[in-house]
Amino acid sequence: MICSLDRYGDVLRRAASRNIRFCFARCQVQSLDMVRKGINRDSSAEKKATAGAKTRPPTKPSIIPVAMSDSKKPQAIPIGPERELQLYAQGLVGGKPSVPVPLHLLEAKAKEILEPRAYDYVAGGAGGEDTMRGNREAFYRWRIVPRMLRDVSKRDLSVELLGARLPAPVLLGPVGVQEIVHADADVASARAAASLGLPFVLSTMSSTLDTHSLGWRERDLHHGYLPFLQGQGLANYFSDPVFRRLLPQPPEQNPMAAIQLWGTLFSNPALTWKDVGFLRQHTRVPIILKGILHANDAAHAIDAGVDAIIVSNHGGRQVDGGIAALDTLPAVVREVNRRVPVLFDSGIRRGADVFKALALGARAVLLGRLYMWGLAVAGEAGVRDVLLNLVADLDLTMALSGYTSCHELDSSALAPAP
Ligand SMILES: Cc1cc2nc3c(=O)[nH]c(=O)nc-3n(C[C@H](O)[C@H](O)[C@H](O)COP(=O)(O)O)c2cc1C
Repeated sequence: MICSLDRYGDVLRRAASRNIRFCFARCQVQSLDMVRKGINRDSSAEKKATAGAKTRPPTKPSIIPVAMSDSKKPQAIPIGPERELQLYAQGLVGGKPSVPVPLHLLEAKAKEILEPRAYDYVAGGAGGEDTMRGNREAFYRWRIVPRMLRDVSKRDLSVELLGARLPAPVLLGPVGVQEIVHADADVASARAAASLGLPFVLSTMSSTLDTHSLGWRERDLHHGYLPFLQGQGLANYFSDPVFRRLLPQPPEQNPMAAIQLWGTLFSNPALTWKDVGFLRQHTRVPIILKGILHANDAAHAIDAGVDAIIVSNHGGRQVDGGIAALDTLPAVVREVNRRVPVLFDSGIRRGADVFKALALGARAVLLGRLYMWGLAVAGEAGVRDVLLNLVADLDLTMALSGYTSCHELDSSALAPAP
């Protein structure tokens, strides 16, 4: 991946002390100038996290007995029936999951906990939110066609990605400013992912491909709310020594000046494919481009030497009226023609969605809002429950549809909805 892992010094150090491995980081494309000038790799300061929660009730531990994420090895993810049994067993003794299983209840609980503007920041999309809705509708247009009597007693959900074997085809996608959702923010999410051996993608909160400017987000404009203007989500910058050297005083003493400087650096709409080529020349770490929606751009990405691409429309947060990510996945997969893995996000909520994305050619999927709701409700345990439930749901969807491994899935597993 285009990786400025070393720009995340503090987060990484904190994570390392908790036995979290970051599998990916995102490209900080807007810092090309910094790359050209030679980034100083040593970051130091740490921004204190501030949750955007209303007065937060003490987080109850999840009712699901979970292995602690401090344990050396990730826990094996329970298969679907095991997870069901855990939940039904709790029910027998009158217990109820503290992290709701039905997604509408999960989101409702997160909404109850979060400040309205923080909830809207996560939940909202660009403009009239047509693209955001379209992302979900695209899944409804495909139906799974279950097959019978195929011995599905043993199943393997693992997939290979850039030399790593993931226990399930699921990653936590980059979500910026997680501190407005929970004080433990990215560290909680990363711990949850690490405890199950799944990758966590660390956001720079800034751009990959598709966020060189912020989309027109009506909910945020209505609240007049952009967390970055309050210094939230900027630790990456504030801890960067090159950034700090550009300031008259350190961000701790003069946050306004730091926020203003960030404002001048955040956006770079002048980037072109040449810049990806430049990065390719200057790093040997794998580069994954997130935000590809057109087959021709997939071709450019491959020409530029990237190692994987992510089909994504940023969860409908950037271009209102834009194509649903799932609708463009088959064309991108065709263009890529197995030369690099194609990942997918935007609208993944349940096991059936993962199944459909894989059947349409994705190697794995990334989550966004879904795990934010878990984070809001119960921090690390909440993200973990969301992951456990999603993977269990996927496992059962595969078993009940007659598939034992992700590699078996292709478009013959689907039919267009009537
Ligand atoms: C609050 C929020 C912040 C996000 N921040 C980033 C970011 O910093 N970088 C990025 O590449 N994508 C970011 N995304 C997009 C996600 O990585 C992902 O593409 C999107 O959430 C997928 O759509 P879904 O949440 O509807 O599944 C963000 C999404 C949300 C909801």
